[in-house]
Amino acid sequence: MTAGIRPRNNKLVLMPQPIKKAVFPVGGLGTRFLPATKAMPKEMLTVVDKPLIHYAVEEAKAAGVEEFIFVTGRGKSAIEDHFDHSHELQDTLAARGKTEALAALRDWLPGPGQVAYTRQQEPLGLGHAVWCARHLVGDEPFAVLLADDLVLAETPCLKQLVDAYAETGGNVVAVMDVPREHTDRYGILDVSSDDGRRVEVAGLVEKPDPAVAPSTLSIIGRYILLPEVFDHLARQESGAGGEIQLTDAMARMIGGSPFHGVRFEGRRFDCGDRVGFVHANVAFALARDDLREDVEAFLRAYV
Ligand code: G1P
Repeated sequence: MTAGIRPRNNKLVLMPQPIKKAVFPVGGLGTRFLPATKAMPKEMLTVVDKPLIHYAVEEAKAAGVEEFIFVTGRGKSAIEDHFDHSHELQDTLAARGKTEALAALRDWLPGPGQVAYTRQQEPLGLGHAVWCARHLVGDEPFAVLLADDLVLAETPCLKQLVDAYAETGGNVVAVMDVPREHTDRYGILDVSSDDGRRVEVAGLVEKPDPAVAPSTLSIIGRYILLPEVFDHLARQESGAGGEIQLTDAMARMIGGSPFHGVRFEGRRFDCGDRVGFVHANVAFALARDDLREDVEAFLRAYV
């Protein structure tokens, strides 16, 4: 699990293996967004001018990830096209001298061989989706990003996790406090210590009833996981909602290796929800220098 010994503060310390691979489960049906998602993957829904999955890939890249593994499903080919060259369009823009548009089209594209796709053939749950990526991930720690959870932050959310992981090793998840009546929407932590920013995880339960939830600290869709999680997912046991839950497999790793939650800095938007998605569009527009003034003036006048 360790990549080597390096000096830190004049001491030699074991550094955890770097996170080079990220898994993006993008097989979900997106029924909460019909009719928008009838012929388009929900991960291609646009916040301002970029699809949700584009933000997730950018975030992973900013955290040092070099291999992007998509677990897709039927009707998701627009995602593959998005992360590929679009020669016709590029040639046309080049011929017209539209250098800015050309840059917007390809500057961010992952390089050859940096993207891999596998299909989740049946919608059996998030745990199953991640398990489908096991051969592509292999025997190294990796990240998981859920594109529905969009985080507006100065330091990208996954980078915050990677920084914590560099100190702690083991499993690390992004967490935030939610109202107690919402615990049945999330994976919820039981915590053994809490310094305000980082918590030690003593237990995990998927979507508990508010009356029995061990806390109100919930997992947001950013994870750093040890490859042992695949051994637990291989049991294919179904949990909450009859689905194979990632949270249940993670819960089985507690005690074996370090397991931390990081209260990330930034604002999370639930883009799997209509209202959260609209909020995200407004917030991301207001965060952009080229749009802020117009959008703010519009909101003031309109509301
Ligand atoms: C999934 C996870 C859950 C996590 C949530 C974050 O749930 O199963 O543990 O808290 O993502 O968004 P889903 O939203 O897919 O039901």
